[in-house]
Order: sequence, then C-alpha cells, then structure tokens
Amino acid sequence: MLSQQELKQQAADAALEFVEQAAGPDVIIGVGTGSTADLFIDGLARFKGRIGGTVASSERSAARLAGHGLKVLDLNDVSSMPIYVDGADEIDANLHMIKGGGGALTREKIVASVAERFICIADESKLVQTLGKFPLPLEVIPMARESVARALVALGGQPKLRDGFVTDNGNIILDVSGLSISDAPAFEARVNNLPGVVTCGLFALAGADVALLATQSGIRRLDRRS
Ligand code: 5RP
Repeated sequence: MLSQQELKQQAADAALEFVEQAAGPDVIIGVGTGSTADLFIDGLARFKGRIGGTVASSERSAARLAGHGLKVLDLNDVSSMPIYVDGADEIDANLHMIKGGGGALTREKIVASVAERFICIADESKLVQTLGKFPLPLEVIPMARESVARALVALGGQPKLRDGFVTDNGNIILDVSGLSISDAPAFEARVNNLPGVVTCGLFALAGADVALLATQSGIRRLDRRS
C-alpha cells in the first residue's frame, strides 16, 4: 500500500515526463505551490541547463527552485510557457478545481493563464464528485474582509479568516466552508465579481487541461473534454 507521500511523488514524476517532452533551451516551465508541487520542483532540478527557466506561483516555490539552481523569471519577462504544473485541493471530472490551500491562488491563476496547458498533479483522494467539501479560499483586500464575508454568507457559505496568514500580495484569505458548488464556472464568476475579492480559489472558467492522479495501481490520466 503506497503512502500519500509516495502517491504525490508518483504524480510529480508523471508531470516530469511532460517536461522531458517540452524541454529546450528557451522553454519556460510554470511551477505551482504546495507539497506536491515541491516534489515536482525537486525533480525539475535535473533539467537545469536543459530548460530556459521557470516562473513560480509563490515566493515559497521561487525559493525552492532557486535553491536547486534553477532560474526563476519574472512573469512580465515571459510571453509563453508550454505547461504549468500544480497540485489541487479538489478536482472534479470536468477538471474544475479548488485551489489555494497554500494561499497562493492568485499567483497560481495568473501564471497558469499564460501557459498553454495546466497539468494538475495530485493523489486520487483529491478527485470529488462535487466541489466544496474543501473550504473555498478567497484572497481578499483587507478592508473588504467583512463585506465579502457577509456576501459569502448570503451565498450559503461560512467564511473564516485564515488566522495570521498574509498572502504574497499582502492580502488576507477567507476560507469558506459549507458550499456545494454545482455550477463551478458560474460560482467562480460571481465570487470573483464581489468588490474586494482579488480572486477565488475556484479554477473552473479555466480549469486543468490534464490531471495526473496517482492511484495504488498507477497514474490515472484525465483530459479535459473539449
Ligand atoms: C496552494 C495550492 C496547492 O496546489 C493545493 O493546496 C494542494 O496542495 P498539496 O499538493 O500540498 O496537497 O493550491 O495554494
């Protein structure tokens, strides 16, 4: 029986095969944040000198990449990336996700938006039928904490301030529990539209293109239906 850590490693290794296919001196790889992304970063170290560099979705991932001697570029200096590789807190069969357990959701969404393909790496426990059991993180401008919280209560959620946490962008996180999200793209658009919300942790308007889900019997690959 493989441990969760071993499953995460398996998913990270599977994503490295995509890097192998894309690698080249000018190729930039987008890199996510979290414990699964950390394993991907560690594996990416062997591509030093074979890729042009990386773009990180958090200060934490940037430091880990730099620690391996990998070049970390500013997104403003990059116009294209073949892939962005990141974990998820929940993913459904449509490859819609909840992300932001590590609080890096905004930068994750920005970096992913520049990449041609989002490769989600996770163990199979992250696959759900309906998104929302994992509390939905929202990055919020501090002065809008209470107004956004009230709006989320009106939408049926129970928002909770992530205590003592400040995002890389200097904002707060509200984690919203009690949601059962049946139409994820519509809910994402609605919440993103609330004044003071920088972004919500739903990745549904632009979800993953490929999910590499590690199971006890190997990698289960899901592709986005076009
Ligand atoms: C960070 C994220 C992560 O991808 C998500 O929380 C999954 O993390 P892990 O790989 O540690 O389970 O969105 O903001």
